[in-house]
Amino acid sequence: MIANSTDINNICCIGAGYVGGPTMAVIADRCPHIQVNVVDLNDSRIASWNQSDLSKLPIYEPGLDAVVSRARGKNLHFSTNVNKAISIADMVFISVNTPTKAKGLGSGQASDLRWVEACARQVAESAQGHTIVVEKSTLPVRTAETVQAILSAAQNPGATAGRPKTFVVLSNPEFLAEGTAINDLEDPDRILIGGEDSASIESLASIYKNWVPENKIIRTNLWSSELSKLTANAFLAQRISSINSVAALCEVTGADVREVSMAIGADSRIGTKFLNSGPGFGGSCFKKDILNLVYLANYFNLPEVADYWQHVVTLNTWQQHRISRLIVKTLFGTVTGKRIAIYGFTFKADTNDTREAPSINIAKDLLEEGAQLAIFDPKAKIDQIEIDLNLKAISPPIHNNPRSKEASIKGEGIWWAPKSAIEAANGVDAIIILTEWEEFKNISWEEVAPKMRKPAWVFDSRGIVNPSIIKSAGLKLWRVGDGAL
Ligand code: UDX
Ligand code: ADP
Repeated sequence: MIANSTDINNICCIGAGYVGGPTMAVIADRCPHIQVNVVDLNDSRIASWNQSDLSKLPIYEPGLDAVVSRARGKNLHFSTNVNKAISIADMVFISVNTPTKAKGLGSGQASDLRWVEACARQVAESAQGHTIVVEKSTLPVRTAETVQAILSAAQNPGATAGRPKTFVVLSNPEFLAEGTAINDLEDPDRILIGGEDSASIESLASIYKNWVPENKIIRTNLWSSELSKLTANAFLAQRISSINSVAALCEVTGADVREVSMAIGADSRIGTKFLNSGPGFGGSCFKKDILNLVYLANYFNLPEVADYWQHVVTLNTWQQHRISRLIVKTLFGTVTGKRIAIYGFTFKADTNDTREAPSINIAKDLLEEGAQLAIFDPKAKIDQIEIDLNLKAISPPIHNNPRSKEASIKGEGIWWAPKSAIEAANGVDAIIILTEWEEFKNISWEEVAPKMRKPAWVFDSRGIVNPSIIKSAGLKLWRVGDGAL
């Protein structure tokens, strides 16, 4: 049995995604004595991680390029050779995708664990000697049991030939938020390690101790660790649904949600963070984790608990459709054939991730109504937007494309991808701000306004514009949670 971290010389991380990639880059950077192999089945993703041009990494995350450039090729390696990396590792992190199940038992709520199970089987087969297996992906409570069952079946602690194969499973959920991942990893609020084997827990803890103070490392049992991750995300998401519900009330009562947030956030018991009203939360975690809680509560016959959390998601979806409905209503009840610009498609700023972005539902609603959208985002990839909307972008631009006229007559929604925010404004009746990118906060409305067809509106779902600047540029404004407009 491994006694302490000095025995951890080689780490394998399965899954080179938004969690595995940045997390392993920071571990390698902070622990030059440990070899870190990040593996993935996806060839093109691995090829992007190995690109010499660091601006082409598969994930856009501020500061990631610098960390990768310091460690890559020294003690940080990206490859598709999963079995080899497992076989030489003392510790294997499982950091694969766990989306919500689309069909079968628990469909729409439970997590699809097929990738986690496949990983566990691969580890069971390829590991040699003693291996600590660490769950990094967000997982439903008691997943460790499944992983442990698969690994236990492959153990041979009494083997006489070669090194005996043994496993310990730990839970070590990741709390990084996209856009601030490097800072969250380098200076975390806490590190959570759940497990039953204290020597293995200390092995993992001593990796983090290379840069995280001991008092920030929390040790719990496996199930508390797994449930804490779901609960943390559920609490954060609940704050957003709470403030979004209040924003709707502000709009009809004459209150301003920014003032309300400030006033309630001044109470130290409530705190100031996560009180920004917006188009609803997105990202790969919040909705998935709440639905996991809902599934768990129903499974254990706690329907009131399930309903309570389900409403956080219901309100979030409502907020997205509420925004598209009010846009249509404001634009004289119809957007068929009208050009509208969408500023921002990613689920938040400083990421290229569009998973569960509110922009998807809002854009789909408007396309359904026959709108002609100019979608501009500084980082989202056009082919990803096409997948999200299930609609190919048209080219050349809407304003000199014969397809626009045809679509207008048929009432069909179309979209194109302008190269800049200014270009997107050409001939549009409205601009909808859906992501709080810095560039949209600093845009010159004096320059944008003359390009739009009048009367022209700005719908600011993030509350980032200055109302007096919008008004002096001759534009009409709707701002989330602003009842004073
Ligand atoms: C979240 C958790 O914060 C992180 O701890 C966990 O590991 C993964 O899930 P992430 O989804 O990357 O991280 O980003 P986060 O900053 O939490 O934002 C999630 C969504 O909430 C975004 O769509 C964001 O725009 C929205 N949000 C956040 C608001 O609408 N208002 C706020 O005040 C804060
Ligand atoms: P997250 O946001 O949780 O990091 P991503 O979808 O960004 O999720 O990344 C998960 C990665 O895991 C993907 O790149 C996927 O190809 C990879 N993956 C899934 N299953 C396996 C597996 N069995 N072996 C190796 N890589 C896997």
